[in-house]
Amino acid sequence: MPKTDYDYIVVGSGIAGLNVALLARDHGSVLIITKGNIDDCNTRYAQGGIAAAVGPGDSVELHLRDTLSAGAGLCDTQAVEVLTANGPERVNNLMRWGVAFDREVGSGEGPPDGAQTSQIALGREGAHSMARILHAGGDATGMHIELALTEQVGRSTQNQSPITVLEHTLATVLIIEDGQAKGLETIISNTGQKCSFTGRFVVLATGGAGQLFRYTTNPSVATGDGVALAFRAGAQIMDMEFYQFHPTAFRMTGFDPFLMSEAMRGEGAVLRNQEGSAFMADYHPMADLAPRDVVSRAIAAEMEKAGSDEVLLDLSHLPSQVILGRFPNIHHFCQSHGLDITKDLIPVAPAAHYMMGGIRTDTWGRTNIRSLYSCGESACAAVHGANRLASNSLLDTLVFAQRVVDETLGLAPASAMYDAVKDDVDDAGNVYDTVQSRQLVCASMPELSVEALQDLMWRNVGISRNGTRLLLSARILNAWERTMPEATDLASHTLSNLLTVARLMVEGALKRQESRGAHYRMDFPETSESWQKHIILSL
Ligand code: SIN
Repeated sequence: MPKTDYDYIVVGSGIAGLNVALLARDHGSVLIITKGNIDDCNTRYAQGGIAAAVGPGDSVELHLRDTLSAGAGLCDTQAVEVLTANGPERVNNLMRWGVAFDREVGSGEGPPDGAQTSQIALGREGAHSMARILHAGGDATGMHIELALTEQVGRSTQNQSPITVLEHTLATVLIIEDGQAKGLETIISNTGQKCSFTGRFVVLATGGAGQLFRYTTNPSVATGDGVALAFRAGAQIMDMEFYQFHPTAFRMTGFDPFLMSEAMRGEGAVLRNQEGSAFMADYHPMADLAPRDVVSRAIAAEMEKAGSDEVLLDLSHLPSQVILGRFPNIHHFCQSHGLDITKDLIPVAPAAHYMMGGIRTDTWGRTNIRSLYSCGESACAAVHGANRLASNSLLDTLVFAQRVVDETLGLAPASAMYDAVKDDVDDAGNVYDTVQSRQLVCASMPELSVEALQDLMWRNVGISRNGTRLLLSARILNAWERTMPEATDLASHTLSNLLTVARLMVEGALKRQESRGAHYRMDFPETSESWQKHIILSL
């Protein structure tokens, strides 16, 4: 058992958590707590890459404009300025840590400095006005980054540098004293042993919550633990109604979904319905590169029309060497499922992918609780607004991990985050609310299990929502929460976290009576100016 007192306690070992740890190690002792192995995280599965304005003709302003436009009026402009302006430097830092981004054929390797970035191969994805996505290993960007960072952390620990890693350990309670985070209570998954740790700074970088839904591109560890933990401790949680569904995940009965990167459509792949017709131009002028929510709803409509569980992704018109060079990982996956993507059409359907909402932070990762920080997918600084621009998430983790560490070193200006909220609505019109207790009036009550929860969320809180189903879901979730026995082990703690995050998502979705970005209400299909504000929930 490691020592119990640290300068930094980092929860989560995706790119956000590892970045914080690597940047903080020069300033104090660091403990990383992670629920699985150190490399079990969403980052690993990121295929698309990192968006940054490094290419010829691109600029921070253009990247900013595309991000704000995808965010459908709910991005914090200042946060997006921070994101886009810091992109090129953060990418350079990754190269210094050993991430080799793919380069144009024949451009040579070159030293990892800013001057060489023009030779990096840049891909295009939906809603970007130009090619600006850096990738590594073709479609294995996340894996390359995660490996480079874990290797750095490994080197650190071997050299007796101050990073301690505690795997298979779940944080169960945030210790708060006098309004300040002081540490964590944890449980070790295989022994059930409980342990407390104290720290000067606690950073939640626990990633997303794709496991709330029946179909997801996320790994099994993505259960929203940090959001639930922070909410129970009194942190503000924002924008939870905005959850992004990726339009194209592999769909075959008996197999888990697997991401079919948007970069495939960026290279020219086309979505076809069961009759073989390319349908996206009927739904949006950008056709196959329309924003993700538009593509997801179009696919759902085509599936319903045809009474089918999938549509088809077609790359067969692209040269084989482009397909194999750019998508080796996807090619390998499909081959192992009996498909040759240079010839065969790939069965795809939408799947839960990315949580835009999360623990409310400012642009330095500060929450409303002193010494408690968050960055990465678990955080919400409104950098993605109502809909995240493709490949902005890895950049988000890099930029705001750095800012968290800078803040702990006293480099940030004073914050308004800690001021108690006295009113239901603030100056910006944002709505503050508590989660409602809703009595169940329901003829047949499904029994609580992870699968029942995932089914409920997929059917009622998915790509298209309506008030009746949301209210029914809120009542069922409420009843499950009230009757669930106290959590004692990893599985029950995780289920309890999922329930909490589901409640937050449903409350936000019920309250927001409009459609905007990834939140689509069939009963309120228009965007309403009066809803150009955030919903912030707390205990
Ligand atoms: C993809 O490769 O399509 C996913 C990239 C992302 O979600 O940003």
